[in-house]
Amino acid sequence: MVKKEGKMNRRNFLKCSGQAILLLGGMSMLHACSSIKREDIPRSDSEKTSIKGLEKDEMEILDYASLAPSGHNTQPWTLKIVEPKHWVIGSNKKCWLPAVDPENRELLLGIGAFIENLVIAAGTFGYEVDLQIIAKSPMDPEIADIRLKKGKTLDFPLAKVKQRRTVRSGFADQEIKTEDLKYFTRHEARACLLANVPSPHSFFFPNHSPQGKYLQEGTIEANRKQAFRDPAQEELANWIRWSNKEAKLYRNGLTPESMEIKGIAGLFVRNFYDRQSVLKESFRKQTVDIVAKQVKTCGGWLVVTSQDSSIPTLIEYGRVWENMLLKVREKMIALHPMTQMLEEEPWRKQIAKELSLTSEVQWILRMGYLKSYPDPVSLRMPVSWFIQA
Ligand SMILES: Cc1cc2nc3c(=O)[nH]c(=O)nc-3n(C[C@H](O)[C@H](O)[C@H](O)COP(=O)(O)O)c2cc1C
Repeated sequence: MVKKEGKMNRRNFLKCSGQAILLLGGMSMLHACSSIKREDIPRSDSEKTSIKGLEKDEMEILDYASLAPSGHNTQPWTLKIVEPKHWVIGSNKKCWLPAVDPENRELLLGIGAFIENLVIAAGTFGYEVDLQIIAKSPMDPEIADIRLKKGKTLDFPLAKVKQRRTVRSGFADQEIKTEDLKYFTRHEARACLLANVPSPHSFFFPNHSPQGKYLQEGTIEANRKQAFRDPAQEELANWIRWSNKEAKLYRNGLTPESMEIKGIAGLFVRNFYDRQSVLKESFRKQTVDIVAKQVKTCGGWLVVTSQDSSIPTLIEYGRVWENMLLKVREKMIALHPMTQMLEEEPWRKQIAKELSLTSEVQWILRMGYLKSYPDPVSLRMPVSWFIQA
C-alpha cells in the first residue's frame, strides 16, 4: 500500500508556493516542483556495478529487459540466478492485479515483453538465449528458464528499447496506412520461437467502421464499469505514485507524468492527490471522460487474436507485441493498449463474436499517428530490486 508520508496540506502548499513564486518567479517554481521522469532517477554507481552472481554485461541485459511495459507498471518480473548465465524468470505475487487480471493473463504478456527485450539485448552482447517455459499454471512463481550461450552477435539499435513508451494522447485522426500496418504486423511471418505456438493474427478496424464504433463504445462502457468497481479502483489506487517522494521510493507504478497529467494540473495532483482521491466519484467520472475523448480521436484499432491462452502462447504474444512496439516509433505511430473490454463482463465474453472473430482476443490496441514522439517517462526499478535470493 502507498504511504502518505510527506504530503503538504493545502495551506502549507499555498504558503510555500507563494514564497517560491516571489523568490523564483512562476516558471522557475513550476520547474522546481516538476514531476519525476525516468531520466531524473538515473542508476546510481552501486546500482550499475555488478551484483554477486552477475557480470556487468548481464546486468545491462537485465536493465534493458526491465524497460518492458507492464499493466499499471507493476514490473512483475523476478530473477533467480541458478548459476552464471543461467536464470529463472518468475512472477512477483506482490505485483499481481487480481481485480483486473485474475488469471494473470496480462501479467504473462508483460513477462513475455520482458523476455523479448532480454533476448534482443543478450543478442547484441553476443549471446543466444535458450528459453524453456517451466510454469504449468499462470500462478506459478517460476515462469521461464533462461540460459545465455555465446553465439552470433545481433545488430540491433538498443536505443529503440530505451525509447519505447506508451503514449495515450495527441493522436491524429488520420487512418493508419496499410504499408505501415504491414510493416509492424509482419510478426505473422515470424518463425515461432516456441514450439506449438501458432502465429498471431491481427485485425485492423478503422475508427469509423462498425467494429471501430463497437470498440469505442465498449471501451468507454468497460472503463465506466471498472472505474466504479471498487476492488479494481482500489487496486489502481495502490499503484499510483502521486508524489515525487513516492515515485522515488517505489520506482514502479503510475506517476502523474506517465498518466500524462502535466503542467498546473500535474503540480496540483502531485501535491493534493492521494490514494483516497482515486476512490472519489469525481475522479472515477473524470477517468471515463478522458477515455471517451481518447477513443474518439485515433487512426484505428488493432485487435490481436490467438487460438488459445496457454502460458507459452501468452509469453510468445508478449514477445511479439514488444517487437511491434519497438517498430512503431520510427513510423511516428502510438499503440495504446486499452484492455478494459478484456477485463470486464459482458465485453470479455462477447468481443470475439461481436467482431466476427473465431479465436480469443489477446490485445486491443488503439493506434494513431503522432506529430512528435515524447520520450519515456515511466519509472523502472534497478535490477537488484527484482533479483531473488
Ligand atoms: C498487459 C498490459 C496491459 C495494459 N493495459 C493498459 C490499459 O488498459 N491502458 C493504458 O493506458 N495502458 C495500459 N498498459 C500500458 C502500461 O500502463 C505501461 O506499459 C506502463 O505504465 C509502463 O509505461 P511505458 O509503457 O511507457 O514504459 C498496459 C500494458 C500491458 C503490458
